[in-house]
Amino acid sequence: MAIRSLAYVVVDTADVEAWRAYGEQVLGMRATDHEGGLRLRMDERPFRMLIRAGDAEQFHAAGLVYPDKAAFDRGIAGLRDAGVAVEPASEAEAKDRHVVEFVRCADPSGNRLEIGWGRVVDGAPFVSPAGVPEFITGEMGMGHVVFPAAKLAETRAFYIDLLGFGDSDEMRVHVPGGPDVGLGMHFLHCDNPRHHTVALAEFPVPSGLVHMMVEVPGLDDVGRALDRAKAANVHISSSLGKHMNDKMVSFYMRSPGGFDIEYGFGGIQPDWTSFTPTISLKEDEWGHHWDFGG
Ligand SMILES: [Fe+2]
Repeated sequence: MAIRSLAYVVVDTADVEAWRAYGEQVLGMRATDHEGGLRLRMDERPFRMLIRAGDAEQFHAAGLVYPDKAAFDRGIAGLRDAGVAVEPASEAEAKDRHVVEFVRCADPSGNRLEIGWGRVVDGAPFVSPAGVPEFITGEMGMGHVVFPAAKLAETRAFYIDLLGFGDSDEMRVHVPGGPDVGLGMHFLHCDNPRHHTVALAEFPVPSGLVHMMVEVPGLDDVGRALDRAKAANVHISSSLGKHMNDKMVSFYMRSPGGFDIEYGFGGIQPDWTSFTPTISLKEDEWGHHWDFGG
């Protein structure tokens, strides 16, 4: 059985206050203090982004969850059988993540994962400090992450063979200074209708993450986020555009962690029983003009 969704992300930072301002005023999430760092709330869960106080800017881990304990137990046994190093987290750590149980491991390219099951909710409503009506989350998870994957084929096989992901799309992207043939990307879905929950990109990224995506209900919510980012002098990494593969209309902006955050709406929700894995020869239907500076 496949992973259900991306439940949360963990980010380390030397500048908690930069993340508080960015999280609340630009992303529109609700920040609460937590052990010297922050929890950023997007919905009914106490947090979807855990910002930990550290000594450098680093994406730490993505929290993936199985639908239930039986699926979790089978999944973890499969990882162990395949020789993947799996480290069980303590009960206190699971409590801190607001899941019932989780283990730590890494994919073949070294991206850290926390794989668990269950959720803990506290009954507090999500009230955005920036007036974001809601984030599109629920069983589709908090959004998607795009990991650097130097070992692209091996890493794709890890998600497909061991965690139950499926191919949604693949493409080759052309970046300044990159090879003429472009760099490979794989977009993978799990057990929810989001077009991709994990994507893999064949290029190194010092921050540990290419980007993560959050989704809001409509164009106005994306436009208002773009206004907030500009007002806060945040580097806009990509203009508004519409992707070929998931039809997401979005822009990208730099986060205090050095990685980009895609802020979008309108992503398609395919029925995987009738979906055909796709190779997209073009990245975008329109827009998404990149500015790698800043
Ligand atoms: Fe994305």
